[in-house]
Amino acid sequence: MYLWSFILLVVALVAATPQSAGQDMLQPFFYKGHDLSSLKMLEEGGYVYKDTARNNQTRAAEDILGDGGMNSVRLRIWVNPVGGTYGLQYNLDLAKRFQDKGYKIYLDFHFSDSWADPNKQPPPAAWPKTLGPLALTLRQYVKDTLVSFHDAGIDLSLVALGNEIRHGMLWPLGYADVDVEPWPATVANFSNLATLWKAARAGVDDAIFMGVPKPAVLIHIDDGWNLTLQQRWFGALTENGIPTTAWDVFGFSFYPFYGTAATFDNLRTTLHTLAKEYGKPLQVVETDYPAICNGEFEPIPPSSEPEIPYSIAGQTSWTDDVISIVQQVPYGLGQGIHYWEPAWLNNTSLGSDCNDAILFTADYSNLTEPVGYSRSSVGMFRVK
Ligand SMILES: *[C@@H]1O[C@H](CO)[C@@H](O)[C@H](O)[C@H]1NC(C)=O
Ligand SMILES: *[C@@H]1O[C@H](CO)[C@@H](O)[C@H](O)[C@H]1NC(C)=O
Ligand SMILES: *[C@@H]1O[C@H](CO)[C@@H](O)[C@H](O)[C@H]1NC(C)=O
Ligand SMILES: *[C@@H]1O[C@H](CO)[C@@H](O)[C@H](O)[C@H]1NC(C)=O
Ligand SMILES: *[C@@H]1O[C@H](CO)[C@@H](O)[C@H](O)[C@H]1NC(C)=O
Ligand SMILES: *[C@@H]1O[C@H](CO)[C@@H](O)[C@H](O)[C@H]1NC(C)=O
Repeated sequence: MYLWSFILLVVALVAATPQSAGQDMLQPFFYKGHDLSSLKMLEEGGYVYKDTARNNQTRAAEDILGDGGMNSVRLRIWVNPVGGTYGLQYNLDLAKRFQDKGYKIYLDFHFSDSWADPNKQPPPAAWPKTLGPLALTLRQYVKDTLVSFHDAGIDLSLVALGNEIRHGMLWPLGYADVDVEPWPATVANFSNLATLWKAARAGVDDAIFMGVPKPAVLIHIDDGWNLTLQQRWFGALTENGIPTTAWDVFGFSFYPFYGTAATFDNLRTTLHTLAKEYGKPLQVVETDYPAICNGEFEPIPPSSEPEIPYSIAGQTSWTDDVISIVQQVPYGLGQGIHYWEPAWLNNTSLGSDCNDAILFTADYSNLTEPVGYSRSSVGMFRVK
C-alpha cells in the first residue's frame, strides 16, 4: 500500500510539474530551419532586409527569421564553384555567423561545382572519371570538409551526403534509377551509387576518427509524398550493401507545384510508412509555397493542395500543415522542416513556375540598395 501511494504521488508530481529544463531535455529537438545559402552573396551585392514588424528597421535576415521561430540553418556546399559562392570558405563564414547566433547548422553536400538535383548531378570538373579513384576523392573531400568546419569551431548538426539523389549522384558513374518496370528490377544500377555513397559515408567516419563530433547523416530524396519511389529507392540502396545503420535521418523535398499528387495525405502516408519500416527520424528538408503566382509564367501550375491560395497567408498555412504532419509521425520520428531560400530577393521564382515563393517583398526602387521587406510569413515557425 505504501508503495502504491508512493508511485501515485510520484505520478501526480510529474504530471503537475510545469515544463522544466529537465522535461525540455526529454523533448527531442524539432528543426525549424531556413535554407539561407544565398544570403552572403546577396548581402555582398548590396541587398538589405527590413523588418516590417519593427518600423522597417534594417536587420540581418537571420535575425528577422529567428524572431519568426527559426532554430536551424541549411547551407549548400559546392566543391569548386566559379567565384567561390557556395564554396568552402563561403560556407565557413556563414555557418560561423549562424552558429554564433545559436542556430543549428545543416550542411547540404552537392558533390558538384554547381547545382545538383534529380535532373542533373554534374561531378566536380577536377575529380577522377573512373569509379575507384572517384570514390577515394569523394571520401577524402568529405573528411577534409568536415575537419575544416571543426577546425573553424563549427559543430555541424546534420550533414546530407548528396542533394536530391533520386537519380544518384556524380553522373554518369553514379547514375541510378528506380523508375523501372516491372519492379524489382535488376537494372536499377544502384551498384555504383552504393559504392560512391559508401565512400562519402566513410569520409564522415574518417572525420570522426580525426576528432570531429558525429553529425547526423542524412539522405535526401525529392518527392517525399511518393511512397513507391521512397520504398524502391531505399530498398535498392540497402540491397546494394548499404546497411540501414549507415544513415541517421531521411530527408525529403515536398513542393506544391511539381505535380498534383504532392498532397498532404500522400506525404502523411509516406512518412508514417517509412517510420514504421525503418524506425528512423524523418524531415521535410525542402519546401516552400508561392506568395505570388499570377500568370507571368504560363500556365500557372496548380497547387497540390488547391484550397490553400497562392498568397502570403497561404505560405504560413501550407507550412503549418506540413509541420503538423511531420509532428504526427509515429514514435516521435518526425524531426523537422526546412524552408527553401526564403531570402533570395533576386531569384524569387525558385525553380518553380511561379513568380515568388520567398518570405520578403523585393523593392528595387533604389537600385544601389535593393530591399526585402519582411512579410507576415517570416513568422511561420513561431510557436502558436
Ligand atoms: C543576385 O544578386 C547577386 C548579388 O548582387 C548576384 O551575384 C547574382 O548574380 C544575382 N542573381 C540573380 C539571379 O539575379
Ligand atoms: C515599411 O515599408 C513599407 C514598404 O515601403 C511601407 O508600405 C510601410 O508603410 C513602411 N512601414 C513603416 C512603419 O514605415
Ligand atoms: C543501367 O546501366 C546500363 C549499362 O550502363 C544501361 O544500359 C541501362 O540503361 C541502365 N539502366 C537504367 C535504369 O538506368
Ligand atoms: C512515384 O514513384 C514511382 C517510382 O519512381 C514512379 O514510377 C511513379 O510514376 C511516381 N508517381 C507519380 C504520381 O509520379
Ligand atoms: C535561381 O534558382 C534556381 C533554383 O531554383 C536555379 O536553378 C537558378 O540557377 C538560380 N539562378 C541563378 C542565376 O542563380
Ligand atoms: C539608396 O541607397 C543608398 C545606399 O544605401 C543610399 O545612400 C541612398 O540614400 C538611397 N537613396 C534613396 C533615394 O533612398
